[in-house]
Amino acid sequence: MREFLIAGNWKMNGGNEANAELVSGIIAGVPDGDGFRLLVCPPFPYLAAVAAQLAGSKVALGAQSVSEHSAGAFTGETAPSMLRDVGCEYVIVGHSERRALFGESSEQVAEKFKAAQAAGLTPILCVGETLEEREAGATEKVIDEQLDAVLSAVGAAAFATGVIAYEPVWAIGTGMTASPEQAQDVHCHIRERLAQHDAELAADVQILYGGSMKGENAPGLLSMPDIDGGLIGGASLKASDFLAIARAAAEI
Ligand code: 13P
Repeated sequence: MREFLIAGNWKMNGGNEANAELVSGIIAGVPDGDGFRLLVCPPFPYLAAVAAQLAGSKVALGAQSVSEHSAGAFTGETAPSMLRDVGCEYVIVGHSERRALFGESSEQVAEKFKAAQAAGLTPILCVGETLEEREAGATEKVIDEQLDAVLSAVGAAAFATGVIAYEPVWAIGTGMTASPEQAQDVHCHIRERLAQHDAELAADVQILYGGSMKGENAPGLLSMPDIDGGLIGGASLKASDFLAIARAAAEI
């Protein structure tokens, strides 16, 4: 049985004071019940402080990116083992902003996925199409290419400890959300693609939706059979907004 994962990707936002307020608000409002898990992914400099604040709570910690290298002369990079050291359990890899703005290729994303897992982190692999690609009818082709790059590097079995996030680029930070049916179609496709390798494993993989998820649209999205949570940007920066999504998951 898959549980929901409600993950906040803070992106490049926050500061000591704002983070402390956000985290204490989230901890204080974690809904009762089980069947869901909450996760926050702050920027690198704040990971240790947020880890300390989360200690003993039910909220997990993740990072937003990671190097594919384990150590050495890689100025400005952060190794997977370092993320483990400061208490991260998860790391986002292949976010569309990393792909588009920082030139990460699917092959590099696959290396990051592999390195993260080798260090004991659970990678959250982001895939998703642009508006042009959707309008050209290329959504599934784009997703397949992004997914297959990782599948061929790590094998399907690696997804036993991996998460996938479907993030349509056109829905990120735009206020436009995929309809529950549009998202479900792609989630179902992703699960079927994995099932071609291993049906049992595919049935267990968490597939999150990301792209302007908020309290109002979360119940519809999370009710879909193949949507197992959310990767949330804007609405993860305010405790009440993030918790509204968490409550939607807790109530399903
Ligand atoms: P928004 O929720 O702000 O659209 O961001 C989604 C996202 O990119 C999460 O990784």
